[in-house]
Amino acid sequence: MTRTKIVAGNWKMNTNLSEGKVLLQSLKEENLGQGVVPVIIPPYTHLYMAVEQLKNTGLKVGAQNCSNFEKGAYTGEVSPSTLDDMGVEYVIIGHSERRAYYGENESFLAEKMTASLANHLTPIYCVGETLEERENNIHFDIIRKQIEGGLFHLSAAQLAKCVIAYEPVWAIGTGKTASPEQAQEIHAFIREVLTEKYGILSQQISMIYGGSVNDANANELFSQPDIDGGLVGGASLKADSFAAIINAMSALQNASH
Ligand code: PGA
Repeated sequence: MTRTKIVAGNWKMNTNLSEGKVLLQSLKEENLGQGVVPVIIPPYTHLYMAVEQLKNTGLKVGAQNCSNFEKGAYTGEVSPSTLDDMGVEYVIIGHSERRAYYGENESFLAEKMTASLANHLTPIYCVGETLEERENNIHFDIIRKQIEGGLFHLSAAQLAKCVIAYEPVWAIGTGKTASPEQAQEIHAFIREVLTEKYGILSQQISMIYGGSVNDANANELFSQPDIDGGLVGGASLKADSFAAIINAMSALQNASH
């Protein structure tokens, strides 16, 4: 069975509205290969524009975060139902920057997973260890804790709708990627952990790698058997490099058919 291949571009807190518009236009002009779902994840302020601008292009839109609540007195939060209503289809949950700078822990993220799924969004649940954790050889324990804490409350039917991103914190924005072997090892481990609870379903979950993915290393990373694409930060801010990363996944996908 083939898993859905996904390449998502996380713009983080970059671009103002007019810069975002220009970048979306450039992306629309790129020649994108088949067999991959490309997802653009701009700042909240750009989402409405992005959905409008990317209508009927095959490019999907995602949000970088969402509230664990549906509506109410939660100043500054954005509801998953509002995102769904707007035409946003994906949402990043538990990015390491949110875990590290905004204190988002697993039980909070578990609520966000439930809320996003209840509102027809596809959550991209992020896990990853810090350099210190890897050096202390506790990275497997950390990943297990993040997977169990954020996902194990979900039913099999809910889990089937999720995407998981492995993003080692030491590789994010550092120009230092995990080697394809290191990334593959963790992706396979995540499938093992999921198998304990969900059995064979673990083989059907799309799992993408993030951390300094660029057009030069994408092919090698995406060639690994348990890697189904990428979550791309810096390199998604340039249309040509993001297109090249999408096309690396597309070429591998087409070669395997
Ligand atoms: P990066 O970011 O590609 O700039 O390392 C990846 C991410 O944080 O999703």
